[in-house]
Amino acid sequence: MTEITNEKEKYKIYNDPAHPLLAEFMAKCKGSYKHCQDVAYLAESVGRKLNLNVELIKCAAFYHDIGKIINPEFFSENQSGLNIHDDLKPIVSYHIISRHVADSVSILVENDFPIDMIKLVQQHHGSSLVRHFYLLAVKAEETLPEEKRDPFMEIKYRYKHKAPQTVESAVLMICDNIEATAKALRADGKLVSDEQKKILIKTTIDRLKEDIQLDILTVGQERIIIETLLDVLNSIYHSRTLYADQVGDYSDDQSEVPPPAKQTKKSKASPKPEDKID
Ligand SMILES: [Fe+2]
Ligand SMILES: [Fe+2]
Repeated sequence: MTEITNEKEKYKIYNDPAHPLLAEFMAKCKGSYKHCQDVAYLAESVGRKLNLNVELIKCAAFYHDIGKIINPEFFSENQSGLNIHDDLKPIVSYHIISRHVADSVSILVENDFPIDMIKLVQQHHGSSLVRHFYLLAVKAEETLPEEKRDPFMEIKYRYKHKAPQTVESAVLMICDNIEATAKALRADGKLVSDEQKKILIKTTIDRLKEDIQLDILTVGQERIIIETLLDVLNSIYHSRTLYADQVGDYSDDQSEVPPPAKQTKKSKASPKPEDKID
């Protein structure tokens, strides 16, 4: 009990919505700020079920993408229409995207955040592949003869950090991926049924496991994570009952299934939800 109180105290100032860094994050980088808040909600729910250090997880989730404050327009959640990456080479995009981890760490170190929280932020993409730009680069190389293709392509397009070293860190990684993919699927109207939500959670975790990012988790922990995330997604994305007196005003309401985002410029290759670009 004392331990929980101490952790609460330790993270109280950082988890306060009025913390100056959070306020700056919200003002300069709204899309990423909202994403971090949503990740924190998912991660906190999972953390409670697994009896983890919830205050630590929440803190890391709130700030995990704070580094995007340096160049918000390069990240999809802050874009509206134009995709700046359409005019860049995949390797340039990779460097711009992947640097947000080091930028987040620098900002948190400068602001004297606790070291165990900074480690979670540093590991939130582990050594995973920046798949979207990797696939674009592979596609571009297909025109070259075999001997001219880069044999180190996959290594080049990976984040250069350690895979999650703690269960808290693995939970943050999973929730980060689930939140971003869920948003993309929902925008396409593909996250309605229980089955679709189950598939999202299972495929996300399986992909991260195949990429050797989740070795720290036991089978039992993985099962609890899947069950909890399914419950939370159901509570967030449940179907609403439309009452008779609302039908007149909202008969065309598609709020549960928003239309795809408008695009003012055609992208070179639209990312699939599972190829999220951060
Ligand atoms: Fe990130
Ligand atoms: Fe994120």
